[in-house]
Amino acid sequence: MDHLIYLQQALQLATQANRPVSPNPYVGCVVVRDGRIVGTGFHQGPGTAHAEVVALQQAGAFAEASDVYVNLEPCCHFGRTPPCINALIAARVKRVFCSMIDPNPLVAGKGVQALQAAGIEVNVGLAESETQFLNRFYIHYIQHRTPYVIAKWAISLDGQMITHPNDDRIISNNNSHDHSHQTRKAVDAILIGVETALADKPALTVRHVDNPHNHQPLRIILDSKGRLPLTKPPGKTLIITTLQADAKWIQAMQQDHDLWIIKANEAGKISLPELLTKLGQHPITSILVEGGKTILNAFINQGLVQETHTYLGAKLIADLPHKKPVQIIEQQILHDNFFCRGIL
Ligand SMILES: NC(=O)c1ccc[n+]([C@@H]2O[C@H](COP(=O)([O-])OP(=O)(O)OC[C@H]3O[C@@H](n4cnc5c(N)ncnc54)[C@H](OP(=O)(O)O)[C@@H]3O)[C@@H](O)[C@H]2O)c1
Repeated sequence: MDHLIYLQQALQLATQANRPVSPNPYVGCVVVRDGRIVGTGFHQGPGTAHAEVVALQQAGAFAEASDVYVNLEPCCHFGRTPPCINALIAARVKRVFCSMIDPNPLVAGKGVQALQAAGIEVNVGLAESETQFLNRFYIHYIQHRTPYVIAKWAISLDGQMITHPNDDRIISNNNSHDHSHQTRKAVDAILIGVETALADKPALTVRHVDNPHNHQPLRIILDSKGRLPLTKPPGKTLIITTLQADAKWIQAMQQDHDLWIIKANEAGKISLPELLTKLGQHPITSILVEGGKTILNAFINQGLVQETHTYLGAKLIADLPHKKPVQIIEQQILHDNFFCRGIL
């Protein structure tokens, strides 16, 4: 039982990076000796020390004969930092509890084998599903080398994604904004279609939420034919276009923004699989696709989405002449259906 609690503490620590650590996983570590926590650590991103090393350093001599709890198999390869298994073996720890085998082919069970060969007892699998969820971007990226895609939209009670031009209401609300900005803070990039860029001129920044490292995801706009006015994107943005765009437009856009030319598909639109492959090479490991509907449909139809975020706004867009607030008086999950009763 204690083992699970310590591993959950390690998982909690892993989230303290409080920004993407991509292309690396979120990892936290707790070192326990004689029922007392003697060291803790978490990984803060590429090039920084791994969680196990931080925790072992804090534990010092108390690491000997300790139990180590870590949410991912300790690494056994030289990357930007030396292998964690070396540090664990040198510290003469007694047992290692880890949630899951690292899917990275450079590790993939070899870390566990090396620890066992050094006489350290290893237990794998505690809190595995929580770790898989926490590190879903990493796991997807390691397996496919393309970003994990979250598709997000807000919809009104009457199924609209767009408000009427004379309607000053927004579909969602401030709580939804806060929630979606938490997601923005967690991803490497945000992506929209050119129509949304033209209609809404969204800032696509992380606001409304605590953002101690000021992580701002890369902004990406898909514009196959080069329709964005040259002044349009706010701040530095990655513009994706095709050879259908005018050469002068491409040249001018490149002055202020990064611009990639990607192959067009048979419909003359940017090839999304090709784009995801190229983004993965950079390495962008997660993307929030914020719409509009055309772009969302394209990603979903092509089977490129791993997760959906739906915000259901308690409004009727068709009710523009009256704009009566809808009061939600009942909400239920009916197996896989969401029911809500609204009173006008
Ligand atoms: N409720 C919400 O959650 C939400 C979120 C975002 C936006 N919106 C609203 O949605 C509206 C815009 O939505 P929309 O559906 O008209 O446009 P959109 O999805 O923003 O952009 C669609 C355009 O993207 C370009 N594109 C480039 N590559 C593509 C590809 N592979 N597949 C499909 N399109 C590709 C196409 O133009 P080219 O061929 O010229 O490249 C296409 O017409 C706005 O009014 C905005 O306010 C609502």
